[in-house]
Amino acid sequence: MSARLRLVADRAAVAGAPPPVADPPHEEPLHEEPGPGAARCLGLYAKLTAGVTVVTARGADGPLGMTVSAVTSLSARPPLLLACLRDGSRTLAAVRGRRVFAVHLLREEQQELAGRFASPTTTAAERFAGTDTRQVLGVPVLAGALAWSVCLTEDVRRYGDHHLVVGRVAAVHVGGGRPLLWHDRRFGALTEPVPDAAG
Ligand SMILES: Cc1cc2nc3c(=O)[nH]c(=O)nc-3n(C[C@H](O)[C@H](O)[C@H](O)COP(=O)(O)O)c2cc1C
Repeated sequence: MSARLRLVADRAAVAGAPPPVADPPHEEPLHEEPGPGAARCLGLYAKLTAGVTVVTARGADGPLGMTVSAVTSLSARPPLLLACLRDGSRTLAAVRGRRVFAVHLLREEQQELAGRFASPTTTAAERFAGTDTRQVLGVPVLAGALAWSVCLTEDVRRYGDHHLVVGRVAAVHVGGGRPLLWHDRRFGALTEPVPDAAG
């Protein structure tokens, strides 16, 4: 016990000292709200605005990939990215097993590609069909992205129905163009800033 802590304890033990004043009841307005269900939370998440990416990895039978909007930068030193991939995803299994994956930031013209890599009815081969691909550090890298990075899988941790994947950036390419966005369950794009009205 530190000297400071001991002093306080000794004072409280003095006979005749007034009883300690109880803290006022803690007001926690959130506890008075009805508990948010998954549907309300999904409504909140839909209001997040994110760039759209495609995460790729090498599976046992060939390339795998999926559309992911839950990607963010985590650290510059060391360079780390994080992505949230749903439980049961084929791509997640490869990211975890092969320990390397690629993240492609899509351009606004690549909406069709994002839809293809998200569709539950497309096979892995159909997702990659018609898109130029090359291998970097053993993973398929798609041509034409706004930027891409190849990451070594540093950590995979389950949180609820998704897994948080942390990747250490091992290769990077930054190209040109404007990002494809996802907001309110729709694709979008940046608009030019509105010029100030004269006067
Ligand atoms: C715009 C958009 C963003 C998405 N973002 C994510 C995401 O962040 N995480 C995720 O697990 N799934 C996300 N998905 C859904 C996956 O792309 C989809 O479940 C895909 O079929 C999974 O593929 P796989 O099971 O072959 O890996 C998103 C879908 C769309 C259209």
